[in-house]
Amino acid sequence: MTAVENGPRTRDSGKAAIVTGASRGIGYAVAEALVARGDRVCITGRTEETLKEAVERLGADRVIGVAGKAHDPAHQAAAVERTMEAFGRVDHLVNNAGTNPVFGPIADLDPAVARKVFETNVLSALAFAQLTWKAWQKEHGGAIVNIASVAGVSASPFIGAYGMSKAAMVNLTLQLAHEFSPGVRVNAVAPAVVKTKFAQALYEGREAEAAAAYPMGRLGVPEDVAGAAEFLLSDRSAWITGQTLVVDGGIFLNAGVG
Ligand SMILES: NC(=O)c1ccc[n+]([C@@H]2O[C@H](COP(=O)([O-])OP(=O)(O)OC[C@H]3O[C@@H](n4cnc5c(N)ncnc54)[C@H](OP(=O)(O)O)[C@@H]3O)[C@@H](O)[C@H]2O)c1
Repeated sequence: MTAVENGPRTRDSGKAAIVTGASRGIGYAVAEALVARGDRVCITGRTEETLKEAVERLGADRVIGVAGKAHDPAHQAAAVERTMEAFGRVDHLVNNAGTNPVFGPIADLDPAVARKVFETNVLSALAFAQLTWKAWQKEHGGAIVNIASVAGVSASPFIGAYGMSKAAMVNLTLQLAHEFSPGVRVNAVAPAVVKTKFAQALYEGREAEAAAAYPMGRLGVPEDVAGAAEFLLSDRSAWITGQTLVVDGGIFLNAGVG
C-alpha cells in the first residue's frame, strides 16, 4: 500500500533524500517508497510541469521538486541547496537520472555521443555525490544508491555507450563506498528490463515474448527496483556497502552453458 493510499501520513523518519530523475518510472517509485517510510524527498527532472505533477501526487507536504538537467552543475548545486533549505539535511542520495540516446554497433559509436552519455549517467552521479557529501553526509553520515543496469555488468549489444557508462557507475559505487566509509554506505542496483517509458522500445508490442526469457516470467516494474533501493537506504542493510545488487527477474540464470 502506498503512503498516499494510506491516508494522512503519520510516519516521520526525520531523514531527507534527493532522487534524481524522479517525475516518473523508477525514480518516482523510489521517491514513493521513501515518502511511505516517512522521509522528506527532493525529486528532479528536466520538465517543470511533470515534475510539479509528481510532487503533488507524492505530497507537497513532504516533497519538493527542482527542475534541471542532471549534468548541469548549476542545477546540481541548486538541487542540493534547495534540499538543505527545505529539510535542513540530505541523508540519502539516489542517482537515478540516466540516458541512452544511441542504438547501434559500437564500431560506429560517435565519441561525442559517448561523452554526452558519460556526462549524464556517470559524471552527474559523481557530482551529486560530491555535493551531498560536502553539504551533509561527511559530517552526519547517510547512504547513496546508484541506479546502474545489467548492461553495465555484461555485454550489451547495440547499446555500448550506455553499457560502458553503467559499468563506470558500478566502479564509481566502489570508489565512493571506499572513500566515504564508515559514515556513508554506497551501493548500486542493476536492473534488467523494467516497464517504463525509457525501456518501452524493448518490449512494446512483444511483451509476452520478452517476458518469456525471464525465469520469473515477467518484466520488471518500477516497484521491483524501488524495493531494492529502499532496502539499501535503510538500516536493514547497515553492513552492506560497495555492492551492486542485480534486480533482473532471474535473467542472468540463462547465462550458463548446458
Ligand atoms: N527501465 C529499464 O529497463 C531500466 C533498466 C536498467 C536501468 N535503468 C535506469 O533507470 C534509470 C531510470 O530509468 P526509467 O526507466 O525510470 O526512465 P523513465 O521512466 O524514462 O524516467 C526517467 C526520469 O528521469 C528524468 N530524466 C531523464 N533524463 C534526465 C536528465 N538528463 N536530467 C534529469 N532528469 C532526467 C525524466 O524526466 P524528464 O524527461 O522530464 O527529464 C524522468 O523523470 C536510468 O538511469 C536508467 O538507465 C532503467
